Amino acid sequence: MERQTKLIPQADVERQLDFCEKIADLTATWEEKPLAHIMTYGCQQNEADSERLRGYLEKMGYGFTDSAEEARIIVINTCAIREHAEQRVLGNVGALVHLKRKNPNLLICLCGCMMQEPTRVEEIKKSYLHVDLVFGTHALWQFPEMLYKRMNQRKRVFYSPDEAGSIAEGIPMVRQDSIKGWVSIMYGCNNFCSYCIVPYVRGRERSRKPEVILQEVRDMVAAGYKDITLLGQNVNSYGKDLDEPMDFSDLLRAVNDIPGEFLIRFMTSHPKDATHKLFETMAQCEKVAPVIHLPFQAGNDRILKVMNRRHTREEYLAKVADLKSLIPDIVLTSDVIVGFPGETTEEFEDTLKVLEEVRYDALFTFIYSPRVGTPAASMPDPMSREEKLANFNRLTALQDRISEEKHAEYIGKTVRCLVDGVSEDEKFDLTARTPGNRLVRLTGDKTAVGQFRDVKITDANKWSLFGELV
Ligand code: 5AD
Ligand code: SF4
Repeated sequence: MERQTKLIPQADVERQLDFCEKIADLTATWEEKPLAHIMTYGCQQNEADSERLRGYLEKMGYGFTDSAEEARIIVINTCAIREHAEQRVLGNVGALVHLKRKNPNLLICLCGCMMQEPTRVEEIKKSYLHVDLVFGTHALWQFPEMLYKRMNQRKRVFYSPDEAGSIAEGIPMVRQDSIKGWVSIMYGCNNFCSYCIVPYVRGRERSRKPEVILQEVRDMVAAGYKDITLLGQNVNSYGKDLDEPMDFSDLLRAVNDIPGEFLIRFMTSHPKDATHKLFETMAQCEKVAPVIHLPFQAGNDRILKVMNRRHTREEYLAKVADLKSLIPDIVLTSDVIVGFPGETTEEFEDTLKVLEEVRYDALFTFIYSPRVGTPAASMPDPMSREEKLANFNRLTALQDRISEEKHAEYIGKTVRCLVDGVSEDEKFDLTARTPGNRLVRLTGDKTAVGQFRDVKITDANKWSLFGELV
């Protein structure tokens, strides 16, 4: 296969860092240290992108604030996965107009998946005149240059190149958390599930080289990170595009070989590419957490086919059975779409059957949302919103019961958990995560934050577990 991955020359990334310096020279002359407010919508990939935006902004001399009112620059990293996500973004962008009026020096930037959609970019251009800078996912690495341009001209800046995508290494990062962290191992998606906008806005699959990934993990472990998630739209197809192809299982094993006490997770796995070798590797690697997010989307073969998922329900269930036989305590989660165009209630009931058979620990459930430009958006969709909602409620009720039952199985057990923070709920002191990533609220000394500790589970509900430090 012809390698599509374009690596941005290091000199071009350096040039961006030069723009950061030019902006830093400017911000240093301002009376007060300027603050940046970043709003991130959507998935973990966007969170990871926002860490790069923060990295750049820090180099430009900005500090950070949780308050939009205090900010001199607001960056909104948008999500396009469903209409609801887009409407939330537009609502919030609209509301910023009053801040801009109060503070004409405020800069408002929009980026992320929505800004890779030409119709949305046009809408911002025409109707959201207070937005200063718009750039798509493929242009993120050029943020300093675009911001510099905006700071030095009256005209607003719009840049959303339509390309298959590239990889830029060496962009600075400011991570949000000091215990749990993400490492992007690849970008983009080649699957073109018929409902999904991601391949259009994030481009083709492209993998980072194993040596840069391994170095990033080593640096994180040295900095004290205890929970590291390898990220990609479809991690199971990692490495196919590399000059020296490498498969995801081998990468996982290499990460596992890095010395130190830490957990490895990964997201997301497409079932069609999840192999016996991957499950075996998970079972053999002691640092790889016994958990997998394996979206099945729908339980009916006709629907799976029109969704272009390229696996049947039988094939999916066989993989789950294989996985469970290798790792009996595996924690399974999935994404499910209700109300795909043409799905009948009878077909939807096949989804319920999959839930009963697999017994997921947690499920992310969505009502189908048409996305302009995807094949599903032009398929006949006769089912009413009410019927879809009724099916959706049946789905969540069933999953609630299963989650509650599965969580109840933990009561009385002692589980080695990573204590990852202080509880917002006053009745508890701490939050922790089981190896399978279930949330635990617990009592105990706050000095335990950042440590792996034994936790006695004393209670549970459908959302979380409750316990105490042993
Ligand atoms: N409508 C509803 N849900 C969607 N997802 C992706 N595209 C759509 C859509 N158009 C869901 C899928 C995917 C998750 C990230 O979002 O379940 O796995
Ligand atoms: Fe979307 Fe399918 Fe790619 Fe996931 S695998 S990002 S659902 S196209």
